[in-house]
Parts: sequence; structure tokens; C-alpha cells
Amino acid sequence: IKNQAEKELSTASSLQELESIRLKYLGKKGELTSVLRGMGALSAEERPIIGQIANHVRSFIEERLEETESTLDRKEKELKLGQEVIDITMPGTSRGFGKRHPLTQVIDEIKEVFLGMGYQIAEGPEIELDYFNFEAMNIPKNHPSRDVQDTFYINDNVVLRTHTSPVQARVMKTQQPPIRIICPGRVYRSDEVDATHSPVFHQIEALVVDKGVTMGDLVGTLKVFAKVLFGEGTNIRLRPHHFPFTEPSAEVDVSCWGCGGSGCRICKGEGWVEILGAGMVNPKVLRECGIDPSVYSGFAFGLGVERVAMARFNIDDMRLFTENDVRFLKQF
Ligand code: PHE
Repeated sequence: IKNQAEKELSTASSLQELESIRLKYLGKKGELTSVLRGMGALSAEERPIIGQIANHVRSFIEERLEETESTLDRKEKELKLGQEVIDITMPGTSRGFGKRHPLTQVIDEIKEVFLGMGYQIAEGPEIELDYFNFEAMNIPKNHPSRDVQDTFYINDNVVLRTHTSPVQARVMKTQQPPIRIICPGRVYRSDEVDATHSPVFHQIEALVVDKGVTMGDLVGTLKVFAKVLFGEGTNIRLRPHHFPFTEPSAEVDVSCWGCGGSGCRICKGEGWVEILGAGMVNPKVLRECGIDPSVYSGFAFGLGVERVAMARFNIDDMRLFTENDVRFLKQF
């Protein structure tokens, strides 16, 4: 059996052939298996001798099977590799480069400007307590500005924040001055979608509270900010306005980047584009948030990121930001 198996194994030329040799000798009905089965019929003296021989033959065949298998395996692989040809001139599948979204670019740029001026970044929840969104910001229940802000109410006490100003209250309640923060984030108002409105948009809030902070500090900060974002020649203009949480309050315009102030299509002939709301933090708000208004004062402003990005990149429709059209996104 041993010689026969050795001969067959030495001429086996495929893994399949090898398997049939294995079955022939070591399978359930194999030749060696039947010898081992027949051991019971042998005499007590013969049994150990035959047993030893049979075991020797079995391990011999097993070893040779394994050797032959790995040789054949290697040969088959070499054959396959030899036959396969890779055409290195074939064009590959290319993956387009992604780009940062224009809104992300503007948010990052604004963060950079303020981090450079020593501000810290603060965050707050988008699902906000009515208290922080309104009450702490000096907007009591039934205050008309709650209508202006077209609020999404979750329930009586919980809203989708309509602005980033509630983060002011959250920070002031946990931290004494000096405070210098910006808070970028998403805000919600139930507005109809059109070229300049969306129910979801982004704001960046800024808050500075310290001893002796004045309106001059606010104007100076806004000037630096406008010049970094829109160019050295940019001017700003403050128009009196009203916000419950600031007093005095202003709306802030930047001189039009399209015409430099003489009037063009972008600024609708005005020469100015409104980008943010600002003011001196209302002493009522400071007091409500645990800061003594007889010692400290502060300024705050909130800007619409979409609006700034539209101004910055000359985009005339806010809907483009969320349509995910790569032809649009690739341009910035
Ligand atoms: N929260 C105001 C808004 O959403 C903007 C603002 C922030 C105005 C801070 C003044 C000070 O319109």
C-alpha cells in the first residue's frame, strides 16, 4: 500500500487528483482504513505488529499528501499569475476631490478672526428652553418679538432656538467676566423658503462682558471683522434698531463689495448690505444671568452666516446652499 500510494502521489498533477488519492487510502472505504478495521480478527501477537506498520503507513501517506498538496497549490498559483496580464495603460476609476462647503468655510474663517482676538468658542443646544431663548433675553411671554421670530415650539417650555443668543445666558450663568465668546450654530424659524429665507440657518453670536466695555469697543471689533472678511477697504455703518436684549441696539451694514458704496445690483443701489444685529448687553439681561451691571458692561452681536456667505461669494439664492449641486459647491 505504501509503495502504491507513493507512486500515485508522485504523479498526481492536480488538487482534485490528490483528493481522490486521499479517499482511496484514508477514506471511510479506503484501503488502509480496511486494514485497520480488520485488526480485530488478528491474534494477540500479530495485532501490535500489524498495528505499528499500519500506523506508520498512515502517517507516511498523510505527510506525503500534505507535501504534495502545498507543491501543487503553489504550482497552480504560479500558473494563474503567469496567465493574468495587467494592462497598466488602462485608465483607473477616478474619485473627484471634495471641497469644504461655502458655509463651513465662512464659519471657519470667522472663528479664526475671533480666536485671533482672544475669544473662546461656546456652544449650546439647538433644542432650547423657552427660558434661555426668550425669558433670560428679556423677551417675556406675550412679547411681540416672539411673533417676529416665528418660533417652532416643542411644548410650552421648549423651543427650537430662534437665535444663538440663549448661549449668552448659558455662559454668563456659569462664568463671571471677563467673558469673550463666539457661538456658531444652527437656528430655526418657521419661515417660508425663498431666495433669502430658510427655516434652518446659521448664526454666529459674539459676547464680550468686562469692566468698562463700551460701544466704541463694539464698533472697533466690527470694523476689524468686516475688513478681514470683505477686504481692507470695507466700511461699516450702524443704524439704530431695537432688540430686547441690547440697549442701545443697532443693525450693522457693510459697504457693498460690488460697487464700494456707489450703488449696484448686489446692494440694490443702496451701497450697503445688512449683515448683523448688535448692541450693548441690556443691564436687565446681565442681572438675570447673575452679573452685576453696576460693575460690568458688555456688547453682543449676532450675524447670519448665510447672509455673510452670500455677500462674500456673491450668491443670490440661499437655497443653493442646501441643494448639494456639486457644480455650485465646486466654485468656492
Ligand atoms: N439675536 C438677534 C437675532 O437673531 C441678533 C443679535 C444678537 C442682536 C446679539 C443683538 C445682539 O436677530
